[in-house]
Amino acid sequence: MSNIHVIDHPLVQHKLTLMRKKEASTSSFRRLLGELASLMAYEVTRDMPLQEVQIETPMERTTGKVIDGKKLVLVSILRAGNGFLDGMLSVVPGARVGHIGLYRDPRTLQAVEYYFKMPSEMAERDVIVVDPMLATGNSASAALTRLRQTQPRSIKFVCLLAAPEGIATLQTAHPDVPIYTAAIDRQLNGHGYILPGLGDAGDRIFGTK
Ligand code: URA
Repeated sequence: MSNIHVIDHPLVQHKLTLMRKKEASTSSFRRLLGELASLMAYEVTRDMPLQEVQIETPMERTTGKVIDGKKLVLVSILRAGNGFLDGMLSVVPGARVGHIGLYRDPRTLQAVEYYFKMPSEMAERDVIVVDPMLATGNSASAALTRLRQTQPRSIKFVCLLAAPEGIATLQTAHPDVPIYTAAIDRQLNGHGYILPGLGDAGDRIFGTK
């Protein structure tokens, strides 16, 4: 598989295992997701452009490097993507945020759009799309297709878990979009859930089950 980055840092893997446990409470699941999102943000933003600025230390004048966080847009695929946002924003607090609302038709497993809101001037911006679970890949693929209409400068996709089926779907539709994940799981079940997975990410983040 090309264009896929598995973030196998020990801290990421440790926290992911704690999240997978069915007995993890809503509060610890949410906290761990936030921590993981921050850790993954380090890897995903590794190639962000830097610009040089002149600063004064208490000792002398020197040149430093800074990122332009405002050029970055974090796009959450509702609703589980929102669980990822805070952790990522703690690392790049200046980032703009967009939202895409899609629901999965339970019969066809296809994505249907109900909400779309992006910052202005997307052509100057680099986008990181976040959704914890890359399952069938239909929602992610539909989200990226819709996002492309705004012509962002670049797009990356970040998830916590990816199923091989979802990776194949996304890479077929959007071969140029790099995928960052903490793990590639075995397969989907007949209802489109990832195995071994961690269950329904949205329900576990928001305590709705
Ligand atoms: N969405 C989830 O929340 N969990 C899965 O396993 C698949 C899709």
